[in-house]
Amino acid sequence: MTLPREALVEAAERWGTPLYVTDLDRAAANAHAWRTALPGALVAYAVKANPDQALLDRLAGEGFGFEVVGPIELALAERAGCPPERMVVNGVGQADADLRDALATGALVNAESLGALETLVSAPSRGRIGLRINPALDAATHPHLATGSAGAKFGIALDEIPAALERLGDPPASIGAHIGSAIADPGPYRMLASVLASLAERSGAERIDIGGGFGGKPEAFASAIREHLAETGRLIVEPGRSVVADAGWLVTRVVRVQARGHIVADAGMTELLRPMLYGARHPVTLLAGGAPIAERSWTLSGPVCEAGDVLARELDLGTDAGEGALLAIGEAGAYGLAMASGYNGRLRPAQAVIDGGELRLSRRRETLSDVIGRDA
Ligand SMILES: Cc1ncc(COP(=O)(O)O)c(C=O)c1O
Repeated sequence: MTLPREALVEAAERWGTPLYVTDLDRAAANAHAWRTALPGALVAYAVKANPDQALLDRLAGEGFGFEVVGPIELALAERAGCPPERMVVNGVGQADADLRDALATGALVNAESLGALETLVSAPSRGRIGLRINPALDAATHPHLATGSAGAKFGIALDEIPAALERLGDPPASIGAHIGSAIADPGPYRMLASVLASLAERSGAERIDIGGGFGGKPEAFASAIREHLAETGRLIVEPGRSVVADAGWLVTRVVRVQARGHIVADAGMTELLRPMLYGARHPVTLLAGGAPIAERSWTLSGPVCEAGDVLARELDLGTDAGEGALLAIGEAGAYGLAMASGYNGRLRPAQAVIDGGELRLSRRRETLSDVIGRDA
């Protein structure tokens, strides 16, 4: 994927750093690739990956649906104009009131436990209730990203499914699972499709929800899924990362160079937690040179008071990556800004978007008045 170098430099000049830039044209193209790979399926973008309103507006406008967790994401998706028939609500620890409210909107609401199912079935409005199951499937990914294994907290266990179907009475509006994130191998999806196909047949479920987690382009995953689920018009997919990861960059400026091999930037774990949380690797590119530095292998560190606040290791960015240099951290469109925190008194960064080739600010930087004076 090519780097929109000029747009990133211009965005940093206009709105300062650290700054997220998301290319909406690329994200929309990635979402369309899912639609092409699984004709007729509901492509419900996982809002948690990047809840930028401009991104949601664009995807809703192009007919995509949304996978949401909790009332805030639901509100963002509604604000983008997504109709309830394209909305899928998940979440393992949802409050009863939130589950009932979500059901009343007309969205598909997945029960992840027998307790949540009880709340949904006894709600005053009989809406579209689906079952998210735990398929007891191990996908090769970081342990924090594996959500479909037998010991994970997510989903209704296989041996609880008969009781769930009995309590539901009618066939579920959907039966599905989400087995994890950043899964590079399509193999687990072949197995998941086989499990869901037989459960759908047994239960008469209207739709089959294969979840998200795809660590690559759609084609290979889609063909693994189609081996057991050829009728793609019944499917729901919930891609997050594969829609936005390569469409986003974190632009950061070098603030200081420490003698012990650290380039210290104005972005760190508070802006991009993935390297610290999952050992994720993100490509780093020098956008504009700064002061001269020695030729050696550098660690790109953030400004936070944590020794683990490292964005990348063993970097060779050339000899002008010193103070003032501008860097782009790639593959940062998913779970970047979405996981940003205010730890160490950091203000959450701004986000710009490239929309129809044009740059604009979609979310302003947090200010001191946003975070101060909230004492009760
Ligand atoms: C239920 C559900 N669906 C979809 C996704 C999206 O996953 P990914 O961004 O890896 O595609 C997630 C992510 O955690 C999820 O929990």
